[in-house]
Amino acid sequence: MKRIAVVASGRGSNFQAIIDAIHNGTVPAECAALITDNPKAYAIERAQVAGIPVVVIDYSTFPSRELYERALLLAMQKADVDLFVLAGYMRILGASIVRAFPGKMINIHPALLPAFTGLHAQRQAVQYGVKLAGCTVHFVDESLDGGPIILQKCVPVMDSDDEDALAERILEHEHECLPEAIRLFCQDRIVIEGRKVRIF
Ligand code: GRF
Repeated sequence: MKRIAVVASGRGSNFQAIIDAIHNGTVPAECAALITDNPKAYAIERAQVAGIPVVVIDYSTFPSRELYERALLLAMQKADVDLFVLAGYMRILGASIVRAFPGKMINIHPALLPAFTGLHAQRQAVQYGVKLAGCTVHFVDESLDGGPIILQKCVPVMDSDDEDALAERILEHEHECLPEAIRLFCQDRIVIEGRKVRIF
């Protein structure tokens, strides 16, 4: 069985969806750790309830980003997992970390990439006036939200939508998409071919 670790900064509803999918047998994985940069993250409580070890690398206690990333890298190496899942990790990962785990790190982004990278993707979508929005699970490379795409799901954007309403509609799909991508990875059904991801 594959070992995964989840990296999250906040609420952790995607983390919860992963926990639930492992518990109900949909995802054949062991979640070996929650790694967080935020000691106040609600995700920590979710991990404790599920009996998942928590590693806090508190960003605010480090004098520089370099030292923070060094500690994070060590924690990730120590976790010794097959896959890292970024689920609402709100920082950009430095190149040294991305290079350490090629093809072993995925992220969920609340937009149909390559549109609306970075923060506040749902707000960007509402402001742009797109009629379709959605979420993307992708491998992490050194670009911002630019790695090879594994899965996408789309939702309509309503005229009455504000950022929160759209975010809520997208989030429901995130909770399906992310465990599904992890399932495929854990079943060895994902192959990266250049920019493309083939699913077998
Ligand atoms: C999600 O919308 C995710 O796509 C984005 O941040 C949000 C995290 O939500 N990167 P949660 O912490 O999983 O509830």
